[in-house]
Amino acid sequence: MEADAILIIDFGGQYCHLIGRRIREMGVYSEIVPYDISLREIQSLQKTLGIKGIILSGGPLSIYSDDSPKMSREILELGLPILGICYGHQLLANYLGGRVKKAGKPEYGNSTANISIKTGILYGLNNREKVWMSHGDSVVSLPKGTDITASSPNCKIAAYEDGKRRIFGVQWHPEVVHTENGLKILSNFLFRICKCRKTWKAERNASEYVSKLKNEVGSGSAIMAMSGGIDSTTAALIASKALGKRLTAVFVNTGLMRKDEPEKISKIAKKLKINLVTVEAADLFFSSLDNVSDPEEKRKIIGREFIRAFEAQAKKTKAEFLIQGTIYPDRIESGHSKNSSVIKTHHNVGGIPADSKFKGIIDPLKDLYKDEVRNLAKSMGIPAEMVHRQPFPGPGLAVRIMGNVTREKAEILKEADAIVCSELEKIPMTKRPWQYFAVLTGSKSTGVKGDSRAYGNVIAVRAVESKEAMTANFSKIPFEILERISGRITEEIPSVVRVVYDITNKPPSTIEWE
Ligand code: XMP
Repeated sequence: MEADAILIIDFGGQYCHLIGRRIREMGVYSEIVPYDISLREIQSLQKTLGIKGIILSGGPLSIYSDDSPKMSREILELGLPILGICYGHQLLANYLGGRVKKAGKPEYGNSTANISIKTGILYGLNNREKVWMSHGDSVVSLPKGTDITASSPNCKIAAYEDGKRRIFGVQWHPEVVHTENGLKILSNFLFRICKCRKTWKAERNASEYVSKLKNEVGSGSAIMAMSGGIDSTTAALIASKALGKRLTAVFVNTGLMRKDEPEKISKIAKKLKINLVTVEAADLFFSSLDNVSDPEEKRKIIGREFIRAFEAQAKKTKAEFLIQGTIYPDRIESGHSKNSSVIKTHHNVGGIPADSKFKGIIDPLKDLYKDEVRNLAKSMGIPAEMVHRQPFPGPGLAVRIMGNVTREKAEILKEADAIVCSELEKIPMTKRPWQYFAVLTGSKSTGVKGDSRAYGNVIAVRAVESKEAMTANFSKIPFEILERISGRITEEIPSVVRVVYDITNKPPSTIEWE
């Protein structure tokens, strides 16, 4: 049975993934595709996915800007139900023959929609609904056969429908929590209009992932990189259940992991019965990083050395398949990134370049969002501390040591980081900051230790609240905890004389210091 699916056409709106996740939470598979997808590509997707409807996402531009994204008009001829949201609502109205104009008064934030027709996606809603809007343009006229279904104080055509062709538009955002009955609108579209069946439930499928991978590898053998993160650990567990000893998971110890982390990873692999090989490569990494202080250069060197170390293992094992922990957002972001600027190169230790020497590359988690991976991991018995492990950058501590990286500096940072973690982990898991760590700032400062002047290192403590790491606020940690952290760091690490707390949000800062 193929899964029922909704295709989301991405026009660059910041809530596009939110639409995808809301739909999956309702039990229907969603796939995000770029705005320039062709009719033929959709038809080819239809061979493997039971596409029941299409959603056009929001987007930051006006449909009249020269560089605004447009989709192929032929998609309207597929006969599938379509829901346009915000930019999608305007583009759709324009394609149907309506008119879009700069709004007299742009609407940003909470608004009220007066619902006039409740037969389609607005079924079961109240006459007045609290909705969340964010638009500068508005639909001002519609062609015959299309009815206005809702208005707001500043927007006469806040929602419309062509019931016959099952085409719908909403100016507001049903996917954000500020729209009180937003989920009802999406659910009406999925179940009343598209007649989707609830065929998607990520965590139920653990055994399906295992048997699928078993089939793909047949009697062959496979190798994969395990970083200790939740994605690669879950992928490794699936592969290990499918292949047993025919899987070699490789952990490259770069010397730039947090304190005791290599040992923890070995322990977890043992507990989960994953066949893990640890490559001790710290000497190699420190010598390659000798005298390199440019952050991007450091990232590149680490990425390159990592791949070398991994390839040497792959040669040894003669594995035919490469398994990776790529998840859905990784796949979408790398595919859609052509318009976004590079702030810093993110590299994941699982991100081995597709190498033609392998017979096949398999990404068992390629369709899952992070929270779905977490649920799957939990259902497979992966320990809670691993399931809720905070993000850790692929290049490890190298991007938390400002300037050149040495073994001595890494040791100082590991100790300081362990103190930050141990103090913050006294807070119950649900109340802890989203991410927290120490940074070796590279500055030197004067202090007094005992009775004498000390000139030493400055450690910064970074702790942030975030959802998806796209934006973040510094965490308002109680002063008592910060005081304990600074007291312990300066007492327990002789070379540190000063501890500072980073009080910048993202933007303008990034979460990591490099
Ligand atoms: P920034 O510093 O860009 O980080 O605000 C956002 C989130 O990503 C993590 N991060 C990385 N993760 N490889 C990774 O896998 C990287 O190169 C990398 N750089 C940053 C960071 O810890 C934060 O959670």
